[in-house]
Amino acid sequence: TVVRREDYAPPAYWIDTVELTFDLDPAKTRVLNRMALRRNPAVPAQPLRLDGEELNLARVLVNGAGCSFKMDGGQLVLDNLPSLEEHGDAPFTLEIFTTCAPEKNSQLMGLYVSQGTFFTQCEAEGFRRITYFLDRPDVMASYTVTLRADKQRYPVLLSNGNLVESGELADGRHFAKWVDPHRKPCYLFALVAGQLVAREQRIVSRGGQEHLLQVYVRPGDMDKTEHAMNSLMASVAWDEARFGLPLDLERFMIVATSDFNMGAMENKGLNIFNTKYVLANSATATDTDFANIESVVGHEYFHNWTGNRVTCRDWFQLSLKEGLTVFRDQEFSMDLCAEASARAVKRIEDVRVLRTAQFPEDAGPMAHPVRPDSYVEINNFYTVTVYEKGAEVVRMMQTLVGREGFARGMKLYFERHDGQAVTCDHFAQALADANPDSALARLLEPFKRWYSQAGTPRVRAEGHYDAAARRYTLSLTQRCAPTPGQALKQPFVIPVALGLLDAEGRELPLAPEQRLFVLTEVSQSLVFDGVDSEPVPSLLRGFSAPVVLECDYSDEQLLILLANDSDPFNRWEAGQRLALRRALAAIAAPGAVDAPLDAAFIEAMRAVLRHERLDAAFKELALTLPSETYIAEQLEVVDPQRVHAVREAMREQLATALQADWVWAYEAHKDNGAYRPDPLSAGRRALAGLALAMLCLQARRSGDAVWPGKAYQRFKDAGNMTDRFNALSALVVADHPLAREALTRFHAMFRDEALVLDKWFALQAGAPDRGGNVLPAVKQLMAHRDFNPRNPNRARSVIFSYCNANPGAFHRADAAGYVFWSERVIEIDRFNPQVAARLARALDRWRKLAEPYRGAAREAIARVAAQTELSNDVREVVTRALSDD
Ligand code: ARG
Ligand code: ZN
Repeated sequence: TVVRREDYAPPAYWIDTVELTFDLDPAKTRVLNRMALRRNPAVPAQPLRLDGEELNLARVLVNGAGCSFKMDGGQLVLDNLPSLEEHGDAPFTLEIFTTCAPEKNSQLMGLYVSQGTFFTQCEAEGFRRITYFLDRPDVMASYTVTLRADKQRYPVLLSNGNLVESGELADGRHFAKWVDPHRKPCYLFALVAGQLVAREQRIVSRGGQEHLLQVYVRPGDMDKTEHAMNSLMASVAWDEARFGLPLDLERFMIVATSDFNMGAMENKGLNIFNTKYVLANSATATDTDFANIESVVGHEYFHNWTGNRVTCRDWFQLSLKEGLTVFRDQEFSMDLCAEASARAVKRIEDVRVLRTAQFPEDAGPMAHPVRPDSYVEINNFYTVTVYEKGAEVVRMMQTLVGREGFARGMKLYFERHDGQAVTCDHFAQALADANPDSALARLLEPFKRWYSQAGTPRVRAEGHYDAAARRYTLSLTQRCAPTPGQALKQPFVIPVALGLLDAEGRELPLAPEQRLFVLTEVSQSLVFDGVDSEPVPSLLRGFSAPVVLECDYSDEQLLILLANDSDPFNRWEAGQRLALRRALAAIAAPGAVDAPLDAAFIEAMRAVLRHERLDAAFKELALTLPSETYIAEQLEVVDPQRVHAVREAMREQLATALQADWVWAYEAHKDNGAYRPDPLSAGRRALAGLALAMLCLQARRSGDAVWPGKAYQRFKDAGNMTDRFNALSALVVADHPLAREALTRFHAMFRDEALVLDKWFALQAGAPDRGGNVLPAVKQLMAHRDFNPRNPNRARSVIFSYCNANPGAFHRADAAGYVFWSERVIEIDRFNPQVAARLARALDRWRKLAEPYRGAAREAIARVAAQTELSNDVREVVTRALSDD
C-alpha cells in the first residue's frame, strides 16, 4: 500500500512515558512495555491502533486490568479504552507483554543478534518489531529501560541516556536500568547487550560540563578505536564552535557491530555503527576508511541536534534531518582541513558522489523529490537524493544567506523547534526569517521547489562578446526533464557562483554581487561592461547548485580554466570536461577504439601532474578519468562494453604517454614517513597509488616486468594498508600473474580481519573484465568459505561490487550478469529485504541500454517481479523500474 504525504494526520494519542523491561534471550526475549498515554484532544476520539510486526502477544492491561483488544493486519486495536468514554481524556496506563526471537531476525531491523551480542535498529519502522507502539516520529516520549540478561554472556548492558542502577539477579543474571533525560521518538531507541570493551575519554565542554565518551567494540578490536574517538572529540568541539550546539548528555556511546544494514544510526546517546565506520588502524584501514570514519562519526553525532533534539514530523521529512546532517558532516570534514586545497578536494569528492549516484537516480525510475510525495516502503527512500541532494539544498541556502546568516538561521531554528517534530518548511522558514533581507527570504517559495520537484535541472550558458561595446553578455537558460508523476517543472532558484578569466587566465575584477547570480526564471541574461577581450566564463564555482551545466566551451577555453582557474572545483571540472568530450567522441566514432587522446590533452594532463604548486590529492583527482557511470549518464543510448573499452583505452594511453611522469610521480610521493591519515599525506599516497597503477598498466602493454615487480615488493613491504592495498590493486587491475600470489598472501595475512577480507573480495569482484572472467570469479568467491551472504558487508563486497560497481563486467552480451543479479535479489530478499532492495537498484537505468542489454535487463527485472513472495522493498523497486510512467 502507498503512503502519501498529503494524508498526514496527527496521532490520536500521545505517549508520555515508556518503561521497557527486557529479559534478553536470543531465542525468546520477553518485553514488558508499560506506557502512560492520553488522547490527543486535537483529534476526534477514535480507537488506539498500535503497530507491531513479528511479535508474540501475551497480555494487555489497561490501568492494571485486563481488557479486550483485536488485531487488524499487524496492528493491535484497543477500542474500549476509558478515554473513549465521555470526558475520558484522562491519562491511562497500558501494559503490553510480548516476546520476540532476536536470533531469528535476519533483516537486522528491530532487536537482533550479531556474533552473540544484542543490537537494535529502529529507524525507520523497526521499533514495532520490539513492542506494540505508535511507531511514528511525531510521538515523543520519555524512556526508562531495564535490561536483564545472563551476566557471563552479556556483561555489558547499554541503552539510551544515563545508567541509574545496576546489580545482580538470581541464576547468574544481572540487570541495568537506564533513564534517558530527553524525550524522543521511538526510532531513536536502542539497546546493546554483550561482551564488549570500551575506549573511554572524559571531556569538559565549553560550559564546564563533564562528559564521558565511549567507543564499544569486541575485545580484540581495541587497537582500532583511537581514530573513531578522535573523530568524536573533534565532532563535539566542532558543533560547539561552529553552531554553539553542546553535547546534552553526561555519556555518549558508540558501539560497533559487524552486521548492519547501513552505515550507522544516531540513537540518542547510543550510536550504533557498522564496524566499517568505526574500526581503523594503519595496518588494516585505508585513508578512505579513515576519512569515512571521521565523517560518519561526525554525521551521527551531529544528528544529536539535527534529528534528535529537532526531529521529523513524518518520514516524508527525512531530508530535514538527513540533508542537513550530511551538509553538517561535509562542513565538519572541510573545517578540519588545515589547507584550503584540502577543502577543495573534499568538495570535489562530494560532488563526484552526487553526480555519479544521485544524478542517475534523479533521471531513473526511482526519481523522487528531496521531500517525496509517496512511498510504499520508507526504507527505499534513504537515498542519495534525500541525503546528498538534500545536503546540496541546504548548501544553496547557506550560499543565499551567507555563512553567518546560516548560523543565525540555525539558531532561530533551535529556538523555535527544540523538542519538536517538524517539517522541511519549518527549517527553510527559520533560515529565511533569520535573514529577512536575503535572497532566500525574497525567493523562499520558489526556492522550495528544490524540495518538491524531482529531476536534475540543466542550465545552458551562452556567452556573447561585443568587442565594440566592450560588453560581455551571458545568457542562462534552465530546463528540467519530466520525472515519474511530474511532467512539467517550474523554474528552480539556482545560485550561480561565477568569475571571468581573460585569455591569459587572469581573473577579471568583478563586484561581489556580480560573483553570485541567482537564476530564477527560465531564461535570464547577465551583462558585464568594460570587458577588454572575450573572457572565459568560470560558472557554477564550487558547484554552487546541483545542476548540469551545459556550456559550449572550446578546448582552448577549457585548457585556460584547467591551467588557471582560481576556483579549484572548476579547475578540476575543466579537466573532466576535456576528458569527457574525448570519451564521448571515441564512443560515437565507428569501428575499434583507437588512441582516443590527442597531444593537447595529454600535455595538459602532464602539466597538471608535474605542476609545482598543485597538491597531490588534487592531481590524483584531476588525472582520474570520469567514471564509466558518469560517462554513461551523458549518453542517450549506452553500450556499457563500448564505454568500458573507451575508458580503458584512455587510461592505457595516459599510462603510456606519461610513463616517465608517472615514474617521477611515484618516486616523488611514495615515502610519507610515519603513517598519519591527514589529507595532505593521504593525497600523496593517493597520487603514488595512481602512479603505480598506471605503471603496472603500461607494463602490461609493453611486457615489462620491472614495475609489476616493484608493485609486488611494495605490496609486501608497505607500512600501511593504503600503500599495501594500492599495490595489490595495481597488480589486480593490470591482471598481472603476480596478482594471484599477492591475493593469496593478502588473504593469509588478514584472514581474521573481516573488514580487510571485505576489501579482498571487493577488489576481485570489481576487477576490470578480461574476456568475461569476472562473473565466474564472483561465483567462485561466493563459494569461498569466508563468504556469507547474510552479513551485509560481505554481501556488498562481492555482489554489489560486481552488480552495482563494475559495469564493464556486469553488462554481458550473454545476459549472464543479469541472471546472476536476479537470482541474488530473490535469494537475499528472503532474509534481508533492505539489502535486496539496494541490490535491486543496480538495473535502474536499464531503459538507457543498447540492445541486447536492454531486452535482457528487462527480462531479468520481470523475472524478479514475477515472484509471488517479494518484500515490499523489492516489489516497489522492480515495479517502478518496469512502470511506463
Ligand atoms: N539515520 C541513519 C543515518 O543516516 C540511517 C538509518 C537508516 N536506516 C534504515 N533503515 N534505512 O545516519
Ligand atoms: Zn543520517
